[in-house]
Amino acid sequence: MMKTLLRTLAMALAFLTTFPALAADASHDAPKMEKHDWSFAGPFGQFEQDSLQRGFHVFKEVCSSCHTMRLLAFRHLGQKGGPFYDAAYPNPSDNPVIKQIAADWLFQAATLNEFGEPATRTAVPADYMPGPFPNATVARLANGGALPPDLSVIVKARKHGADYISALMQGYEEPPADFTLNPGMNYNKYFPGFQIGMAAPLVDDRIAYTDGTPATVAQMSEDVATFLAWASDPKAPMRKQMGFAVLGFMAVLALLLYLSYKQIWRNVEH
Ligand code: HEC
Repeated sequence: MMKTLLRTLAMALAFLTTFPALAADASHDAPKMEKHDWSFAGPFGQFEQDSLQRGFHVFKEVCSSCHTMRLLAFRHLGQKGGPFYDAAYPNPSDNPVIKQIAADWLFQAATLNEFGEPATRTAVPADYMPGPFPNATVARLANGGALPPDLSVIVKARKHGADYISALMQGYEEPPADFTLNPGMNYNKYFPGFQIGMAAPLVDDRIAYTDGTPATVAQMSEDVATFLAWASDPKAPMRKQMGFAVLGFMAVLALLLYLSYKQIWRNVEH
């Protein structure tokens, strides 16, 4: 009995000395995640196209210099429910806006140029978004050892989803006096363990929105979280629309079935 107790104590001690960050956690709790009233939440929710466009702007100008977005092709941006959907272009690859966005990105071609180096070409709508680094090792080298995760499905991959992304962008502050921050790390009150390898990516007016919306940190955080929420499930808007059509069809079918049941059994005693 005594032995078990001692062993448990020793294990706890070993654990806390191995992971000092966890021991530090216990001294102060993460603040409550602010719940945002997202327009796209719930079965009737819709993405606001303006916000999606601004969010893409933030992603392109800021986040894409470190993060990949591997599951998103340029043409997805122009599909129904997407940031640059235009009813005039049912095939998003024909949309000049999408073509222009793709053309702004350099793409590593599978061929070599005349010097034997990997050739580059401008991207086309069918391409998936190229990342900023050739591989994860180079990405880590450029980021003090931390690997910027792919953001394609980050909203689905994190508890509190879009609320967390938005809060994380705004959670940078000076560490409390009793907190030891490791070199190269940044204090963020919403990041588990409170130290994150990513420096605060957003500051007021880091970008200029083309629609004149003031680019405050809060605004950019909300927009980029909206964009990332859409990107993590770009088919959701279409699925919701289809869902309602199917429910309507089922309702009509149920009514017809009921009426034919009444008709068939009309003269039968029961
Ligand atoms: C200078 C490079 C850089 C830029 C710019 C940058 N990030 Fe990061 N980001 C990182 C690194 C490095 C990590 C990994 C941090 C770690 O694991 O400690 C990270 C991690 C993250 C995470 C994961 C946090 C978690 O819970 O694991 C999210 C979400 C994120 N970044 C979102 C963004 C968004 C949104 C933007 C644009 C507004 C952005 N980042 C811009 C380098 C960057």
